[in-house]
Amino acid sequence: MSSDSGALDDLLREDRRFPPPRDFADRAVMNDPSVYERAASDPEGYWSTWASELDWFEPWHTVLEWTPPHAKWFLGGKLNVSHNCLDRHVQAGRGDRPALLWEGEPGDTRTFTYAELLAEVCAFANGLKSLGVGKGDRVTIYLPMVPEAAVAMLACTRIGAVHSVVFGGFSPDSLADRNNDARAKVLITADGGWRRGSVVALKENADAALEQSPTIEHVVVVERGGALSAQTPVTMVPGRDHWYHELVSAAAPDCPAESMDAEDLLFILYTSGTTGKPKGVVHTTGGYLTQVYATTKAVFDLHDDDVYWCTADVGWVTGHSYIVYGPLANCAQVVMYEGAPDFPDRGRFWQLCEKYGVTIFYTAPTAIRAFMRWGDSWPGQSDLSKLRLLGTVGEPINPEAWMWYHRVIGGERCPIVDTWWQTETGAIMITPLPGLTETKPGTATRPFPGIQVAIKEESGQETSAGYLAITTPWPSMLRTVWGDDERFRSTYWSKWENVYFAGDGAKRDEDGYLWILGRVDDVLNVAGHRIGTMEVESALVDHPSVVEAAVVGKAHEIKGESIAAFVTLKEGIATSDALMAELRDHVGKKIGPIAKPEIVVFTADLPKTRSGKIMRRLLRDIAEGRTVGDTTTLADPAVVRRLQQMHEEKEG
Ligand code: PRX
Repeated sequence: MSSDSGALDDLLREDRRFPPPRDFADRAVMNDPSVYERAASDPEGYWSTWASELDWFEPWHTVLEWTPPHAKWFLGGKLNVSHNCLDRHVQAGRGDRPALLWEGEPGDTRTFTYAELLAEVCAFANGLKSLGVGKGDRVTIYLPMVPEAAVAMLACTRIGAVHSVVFGGFSPDSLADRNNDARAKVLITADGGWRRGSVVALKENADAALEQSPTIEHVVVVERGGALSAQTPVTMVPGRDHWYHELVSAAAPDCPAESMDAEDLLFILYTSGTTGKPKGVVHTTGGYLTQVYATTKAVFDLHDDDVYWCTADVGWVTGHSYIVYGPLANCAQVVMYEGAPDFPDRGRFWQLCEKYGVTIFYTAPTAIRAFMRWGDSWPGQSDLSKLRLLGTVGEPINPEAWMWYHRVIGGERCPIVDTWWQTETGAIMITPLPGLTETKPGTATRPFPGIQVAIKEESGQETSAGYLAITTPWPSMLRTVWGDDERFRSTYWSKWENVYFAGDGAKRDEDGYLWILGRVDDVLNVAGHRIGTMEVESALVDHPSVVEAAVVGKAHEIKGESIAAFVTLKEGIATSDALMAELRDHVGKKIGPIAKPEIVVFTADLPKTRSGKIMRRLLRDIAEGRTVGDTTTLADPAVVRRLQQMHEEKEG
């Protein structure tokens, strides 16, 4: 953090301001500035107003019970998430409205209306029941971006099963770890998915994971269809493996939505932390749905005629909250795309925006930086005039990328919502409201109404630059870490009393706007994906040639951050480019391709204190090519010079 403060001071001098366009503000869902004050004076009342827009089978009797660090929201209330995302709209006569407008990477398309999606979800929910899945059972979902991913999630919520979606880019080992930690009973996967013209063979990965996933009793396999299924052989184990389409066609069409307690588990989502083992973030039903519903409507200013597209993958929390649950709870028309932004060419996203008439577009800064580099001519070839609101999430957005997004994609007319939140927060926490907030490039601006944050020093003292903290409970907060409440307490609640530690640094400017500075712990953010340095280190030392490894983040023009690994080999093992490639692949195999280090530096020693602690701060300085800070506490100061030389050669 400290080393970035020069750049940050420049950022804070940012004085371009973008008030909401008048016509936008006039019809915005939220355009009364008193909402902030109203929500702050009665947050429970504020959130209850949102909750009461949903269907409840039984009303809650208490809005909030806060016994730090555990919160319960809407106590006594009963509801069902899939009912609220589907039946509620069909019952209101909106069954013919498109829910999912799906496009595969090769250009094949499928559309589901709300009535069709409900029918598919009911049938698959019955299919899951026929495999013995019931309330509280865990189901792993390891799928590409196909409609069945949303169907599977909604089918689980319909019967009260707890889903754990694992990103399709994760390796068999990562999948097995998650199956085992959750003690999942069923795994839902596909023969494969398309990515940049190649097949990602998910069932093959799943089969490898299943060799080490003893709790999985049944596997459901979605046939992706088309050329992919024709060319991707799948081995089905009789009795264990079932084709999705066969289960669905054999199932009864009606499946009543289970009445769930507001605090019943909705899903587990694994995310990287500061140890080698990802943690299962636990979300529950009523509070989560309330906050994703409210934020989708207010932050994305959803109106009936909107076509909404969030480019995330359902494997990440953004896909859960802002492709599936938030938009469907709002009866939105949701575009879903299977593949890469640059396939078959770099104009694909803009062609999709034109084709579907997208009005609201939500993506990550890493994608925006890539588009920017690819040049204005790609978006220039498509008609983007229907776009009226843009959003970003996942990492800090540099003002240059913000301005490009505003100018080239937004045609200088679309407000931009830079939304800060986390897997743990479940829903958007800091964001402009597009009909109310004057934006400035690079800042997520203010907390959403009803949310209270502070910037704190280690001591707990409030300051204008320090750690981002959330000071009061919010409806969609994580309830615990699956199977490890102690880790929940120590990770988020041990820095200050009854205050949530987000793991990010932040600054407040003279307008009171919040600038998020990135992680302050050993968590990297590579292209918007969270990866723990310890996870990569454990994958490296798992290789037979490696004795020790230290991993740090390094600024990257497109990805925001990339991974640099400093590796000490076992005695007698010679360094070579081949070994370097092998180590990168090994990490890819252990975790997934997103975790492969960008550079690997072999070193006989790592900089350590006399007590043996690796000084990552110095490694970060070396990786960034900066002047190395204080080395007086090093056991062997010469090691830094040697490392710098090696790193320079590598970069050379
Ligand atoms: O460092 C922050 C960054 O992403 C982290 C959360 O990652 P994850 O749980 O994977 O969720 C990503 C999608 C919600 C945060 O701790 N982050 C997220 N949004 C922003 C951001 N950093 C700056 N600005 C944002 N808008």
